[in-house]
Amino acid sequence: MRNHTTFSVGGLADILIIPKDLNDIRYSIIYASEAGIPLHFIGNGSKILVSDNGIRGVVVKIAKTLDNVEVSGERLIAGAGCLLSKIIEIATYKNLSGIEFAAGIPGTLGGAITMNAGTYLGSMSDVVNNVTAIDLHHPLRTFRLRADECRFRYRRSIFLKNKIIIIKAEMKMKRSNQKEIKAKINELLNRRKRTQPIDKNSAGCVFKNPPRFSAGKLIDMTGLKGFRKGNAKISETHANFIINLGDATASDIMFLIKLAQKKVKEKYNITLEPEIILMGSFE
Ligand code: EPU
Repeated sequence: MRNHTTFSVGGLADILIIPKDLNDIRYSIIYASEAGIPLHFIGNGSKILVSDNGIRGVVVKIAKTLDNVEVSGERLIAGAGCLLSKIIEIATYKNLSGIEFAAGIPGTLGGAITMNAGTYLGSMSDVVNNVTAIDLHHPLRTFRLRADECRFRYRRSIFLKNKIIIIKAEMKMKRSNQKEIKAKINELLNRRKRTQPIDKNSAGCVFKNPPRFSAGKLIDMTGLKGFRKGNAKISETHANFIINLGDATASDIMFLIKLAQKKVKEKYNITLEPEIILMGSFE
């Protein structure tokens, strides 16, 4: 899985399927359910930490497949495997504003909706109109959820439970001018370059921000910036990032996650909740 995650960490999956279309996804679900094998879905692997022991069962990676984009008036419809960067590029070209907030997020549309990914300028729930999905129990049937049925919260949605798989989504955009769209995108990308270690292998922010606090600032104030375990390090640029300096292991990263949680709890009595998703066993 190290080849399929931006952390560049993780052991073997028993089976990895990269579907080429919706039917492949359906076959994977039917196959796994008939064989009684656990089934997991991932997008671009940019928000997951996979155990050094890998993942038991089938992993279906929906990234760069199902990546068609259609524009109809002010609506933009894209496949779940489409990278956000591609959607932003097409929206900009078509003078459509609404998704600029996501500039620099390395994920797929499906992954981003699942996590309700966002930045200080907005999150996926601000732009999604509806989501077309399939249910693991009835994979031959597609259905549509309106945004208000997706149970969007800060970095959460109904899709996190992994029982409903996103196939495509429609986003509501606004006609705007290309210069303004590009300016917003550049501002975000420059800010990221200044404040985040974007040139290193990581999974972005490790923890959610607790209400009224910044997880990065809290970890920074415990003095943990630069702390290393093996080849994993709490970034000096942004303390809510753990970076892989080379061949870090998932257990090195887990050690730093627990250490940051412990120090912040001891010093500020605040519990940091991971934003990244753990896959496989961490016993
Ligand atoms: N700060 C520190 N030390 C640090 C990091 C941050 O003092 O090591 C301070 C900053 O100076 C600032 C405050 O903490 O005053 C907040 O920092 P920042 O503006 O970097 O935002 P953040 O809350 O840490 C959030 C998102 C990021 C997103 C940025 C920019 C979360 C958990 N994080 O970070 O999302 O890119 O805003 O919009 O919601 C991600 O989800 O992977 C992610 C990186």
